[in-house]
Amino acid sequence: MVDLSVELSEKLLLKNPLMTASGTFGYGDEVTDFVDTNLYGGIVSKSLSLNPRVGNPPPRIVETPGGMINSIGLANIGLDRFLEEKEEYFHNFEGQLIVNIAGQEDDEFYTILKRLDRVNWVRGFEINVSCPNVKKGGIQFGTDPDFMFKLIAPMRDLTDKFLMIKLSPNVTDIAKMAVKVQEAKCDAVSMINTLYGAAIDIYTRKPKINTVIGGLSGPAVKPVALANIIKARKAIDIPIVGIGGITNGDDVIEFLLAGASAVQLGTVHFFDPLAVVKIHQFLQQYLESQNLNTIKELIGKALI
Ligand code: SIN
Repeated sequence: MVDLSVELSEKLLLKNPLMTASGTFGYGDEVTDFVDTNLYGGIVSKSLSLNPRVGNPPPRIVETPGGMINSIGLANIGLDRFLEEKEEYFHNFEGQLIVNIAGQEDDEFYTILKRLDRVNWVRGFEINVSCPNVKKGGIQFGTDPDFMFKLIAPMRDLTDKFLMIKLSPNVTDIAKMAVKVQEAKCDAVSMINTLYGAAIDIYTRKPKINTVIGGLSGPAVKPVALANIIKARKAIDIPIVGIGGITNGDDVIEFLLAGASAVQLGTVHFFDPLAVVKIHQFLQQYLESQNLNTIKELIGKALI
């Protein structure tokens, strides 16, 4: 038997490196009729704010060559409903639940963190400083290294749970942002969130999404994600969780070789919701075919 487990911190062991990307899998419990969610090492929830949010007006999602653009605007059920409705599912979930937190200002992040720190079925946090689709919060926190540091540094005193910051590729130097995450004593970075993108309908002559510009994800962004991970890997020692256009097992191995310790599947869920089944099987077969006992051995191997 090969060992697919990876460690993202002393506090967070994943039975395999496959996680869901926030916003592409709901809260996990909506899909249990057709996919075994226990195949994931971890689920990252849709971004959660203190109060429910309806998000941006539609159309807020559009397909593009090799990907899609979204401008959801952090629509979510809010903290209270999350705590009331999701406990039963996550008590039985065999992987790790990471809650993605989005706030409009510092205190909103801190309030959610403090409340969820007391919840035993929440194993860690992904802090969203990179959503390109909201006027307040989101990427506003994640483009200036010092500004982001001011937001995230106090978080370490609020929780001992796993703490990861999700970075935007829409910056000049993502490595500088990653260094700030490490200086703030967070456990990991996840990257990349979406790239700014736009699409226009030539017949209506109007933008295809309501907010005009949204976030591009999917296979089209994979090489950008890999380049950003490689840049960050050289600058920091803490683990990186890779995100960006992963559609199959080959992609997962590529991200691990580039220095990611785990990965998140995102846009693939929209066109192949059972991708995790195939990818999970591929990882085992790949290790066996390569005479490797553990998947950890692959992390960063392309950079040595
Ligand atoms: C959204 O809700 O608009 C997308 C979230 C994100 O990009 O972080």
